[in-house]
This record gives sequence, structure tokens and C-alpha cells, in this order.
Amino acid sequence: MSSYQSRINNCSNKKQTPIILALDYDLDKYNNKYLYEKCKEIISITESKICAIKINFHLLLSLSHIQILELNILAHKFDLQSIADIKLNDIGNTNKVTVNKLHKLGFDAVIVNPFIGVTEMESIVNYAHSRRFGIISLVYMSHPSSYEGYGLQIYTSNNEYSNTESIPMYKLLYGYSRSSGADGIVIGATKVDIIKEISELNEIKIYSPGFFTQYGSIDDAVKAGTDYFILGRHILNSSSPLDNVNLILHQIRKGKKFSH
Ligand code: XMP
Repeated sequence: MSSYQSRINNCSNKKQTPIILALDYDLDKYNNKYLYEKCKEIISITESKICAIKINFHLLLSLSHIQILELNILAHKFDLQSIADIKLNDIGNTNKVTVNKLHKLGFDAVIVNPFIGVTEMESIVNYAHSRRFGIISLVYMSHPSSYEGYGLQIYTSNNEYSNTESIPMYKLLYGYSRSSGADGIVIGATKVDIIKEISELNEIKIYSPGFFTQYGSIDDAVKAGTDYFILGRHILNSSSPLDNVNLILHQIRKGKKFSH
């Protein structure tokens, strides 16, 4: 089996799409079966225009293990990758157990918070890669107040990630992500300057969430260098999801060449 990076890359190139669908249905008033059927339906409608699905706590805390596994099997049937967005951030043993369990549920990759430090990042990346599983690392979140954490200027006496004594948090996290061999990083679409700065280094794939509902612009992210575009509510809540995905894909293709 090939690595997660080549699997998502191959699918994205084959279907000529860098769109990842976030399956964030918030349907508490309905039963599990309805939520499960809605997820199956939207995957089947959009599969030819996306390269992956992303599942977070909306589904992980609502559906059964069998239902999650079935959704991942369906995704694979359409050649899609499946990413668990749990922003994993724990001690080594717990991180490994989590990766193992997500792998058994049919996931291909997980989003991890590199705040655990470079040593634990290396350990979880190596463990994941030995299972052909991917690690995507959170470098700068999309929400308006994310600068309160990711934008902090920090001081460190022994800093191999910068020549200066002080460094913004996101740069340290970026350094941890790159040197641990993570398969990609998340930078919110609302942070185009940061996307541009990191994409110019051309070292690692950039995944951006935060379009439309969070006001990130597709055109700006394309120009700044986003590789994978994560879209949720704008598609899920649309009366015509396929038309919406098609419009966005058209917009991305105008400014982007596909050869990940
Ligand atoms: P919407 O509906 O806003 O969904 O298109 C965005 C999806 O992405 C998740 N999200 C993030 N995930 N880092 C992440 O790893 C982020 O900065 C971030 N911002 C949003 C969000 O939970 C939803 O699934």
C-alpha cells in the first residue's frame, strides 16, 4: 500500500480536484440513521469533485463505530481519502492508541496538534507512517482570535527554527511539523499572509479550512498557495451541493495547476 501522501495526491490529480469535504452535519433533532444516510448521500453526490472527506466530532460523537467504518468504506470505494479531524494532542501512548483505533475505523490520516513538541511529533509520525497512515499538523487555525495562541511571540534560548531569539508560535509549530515529517499542515484560509509565507518555502502541503462561512476567500487562498481546500457548511447546507462544489472547483482550477 502507498503512503497517505501519495494516495491523496493520486486521487487529487486523477479527479483534478483539491477539495476535501468536511462532513459536519449538526442534526441532533434527527436520529443516527438519518445522519448516516445524509452523509452517504452527500459523499455519493460529490465524490467525483472531491479527493477526501474529513470527519470530526460532529460524527464521531453521534454515529456508531460500524457507521463510521461504513462511511470510510464508501469513501474508499470512490477512491477518496478520509481524515479524522480531532486535533490530537496527548501523551505518546494515547496518541498511538488513538491512531491505531482510527486506522481500524478506516481512516487514512488524523489532524494532530504539534504543541505536543517535536519529539512526540516525530514519534507519532513514525508510528503512523509504519501503518501507511498520515499525520496532518495544525499550524495556524482559522478562527478570528487564533492569533491569541498561534500568533504569540515566544522566546526560547535554544531555537533551531529561527536565527532570532524570539519567534511566533506558528513558526515554531511549523518547524516541528516539517522536521517531524508530517504529511501536511493546516493553515486557516483566513490567514492568507501566513499561507503565502509558508507556501513560498515549498516544503509541505497546506490544507486550508475556513471558506465562506468563516469568510476565507477561495481566490486569495489559491493565490497564496493553499494545496487542499476544506469545505463544510457551504456545501452541506446548500440546496444544490453539487452545483456549489462545481462552482468552487471551477474557481480553483482557474488559478491552480494540478501536479501535487
Ligand atoms: P466550514 O463549515 O467552516 O468547516 O467550511 C470547516 C471545517 O474545518 C474545521 N476547521 C479547522 N480544522 N484547523 C483545523 O484543523 C482549523 O484551523 C480549522 N478551522 C476549521 C472545522 O471544524 C470544520 O470541520
